[in-house]
Amino acid sequence: MELTYRPRRLRRTASLRSIVRENILTPSDFIYPLFIHEGNDIQPIGAMPGINRWDLESLITEVQRAWELGIRCVVLFPKISESLKTEDGVECFNEKGLIPTAIRCLKQEIPEMTIMTDVALDPYSSDGHDGIVSPEGVVLNDETIVNLCKQSLVQAQAGADLIGPSDMMDGRVGAIREVLDDEGFEHVGIISYTAKYSSAYYGPFREALDSAPRALSAKPIPKNKNTYQMDPANSREALIEAQLDEQEGADILMVKPGLAYMDIIHRLRQESDLPIAAYNVSGEYSMVKAAAERAWIDEKSVVLETLLSFKRAGADLILTYHACDAAQWLIDM
Ligand code: PBG
Repeated sequence: MELTYRPRRLRRTASLRSIVRENILTPSDFIYPLFIHEGNDIQPIGAMPGINRWDLESLITEVQRAWELGIRCVVLFPKISESLKTEDGVECFNEKGLIPTAIRCLKQEIPEMTIMTDVALDPYSSDGHDGIVSPEGVVLNDETIVNLCKQSLVQAQAGADLIGPSDMMDGRVGAIREVLDDEGFEHVGIISYTAKYSSAYYGPFREALDSAPRALSAKPIPKNKNTYQMDPANSREALIEAQLDEQEGADILMVKPGLAYMDIIHRLRQESDLPIAAYNVSGEYSMVKAAAERAWIDEKSVVLETLLSFKRAGADLILTYHACDAAQWLIDM
């Protein structure tokens, strides 16, 4: 055949392929999520093989390991004991609580590691919601933000580098920015969960933290988070959230979950010049693990392909439970 264009020319050898490669994955693209608890042991999470709840001592070892693999940011999630959970989640701004304590430990032991936090009430809420639930069963916006601001400040005071509001209350980024600035933490950044969808992919995470919505009293507790997390049917709405977060002072925008929302990552990349993060969430991790355990897929290839596809879609950063495995595979390549 007389073909002018033969795209296969550039695929012929490994070195040709490498010189025209458009995207690469490196360990510093990853943000490694870690679950911590108050005990003195390492607790495996049933629905997330390979992922544990760490106590403070083992947390330090694990973060050190991540650092040596080239990972430069971790995000901490707390499993709070039942006795500390309340309707208003005030434990979230206890300066001697689990998260501030862990941040201080890590900053002392591995000072260069970037520490990102999660800001929301759900781990601390006896109702299992990201905000305060009124007696009528409404998740209250402005009242919740008062506590989220206190939570953010306590985290910044402990040494957090990036504050990550995951609660989806309206106006929280601006309110947190103002409090941080007023208190002398203008250098602390905000990585906003900008487009966070009301997703079934968070199931294993809620097991890890025991944080699912639940009704313990007669109060009518919403069974899902549909009144604050976004409707999976919507994409234009993500642009509105992104504009608001930019105006309110977010430093990084996040899309969550990742895989089923690649179009949203791509759209935000086109609409914004801020760094974009994608959250490869717990359910996405567990599905890969389950199939790999049965030898139905090759775990390493599937994970690296998936993580690379987030970069291709436009993400600069990827929150992923595969972070350490993937970093090791990249080193070995
Ligand atoms: C809660 C929060 C959730 C996740 C991160 N922060 C769950 C939820 O909104 O119910 C999910 C992360 C994952 O599934 O890996 N504020």
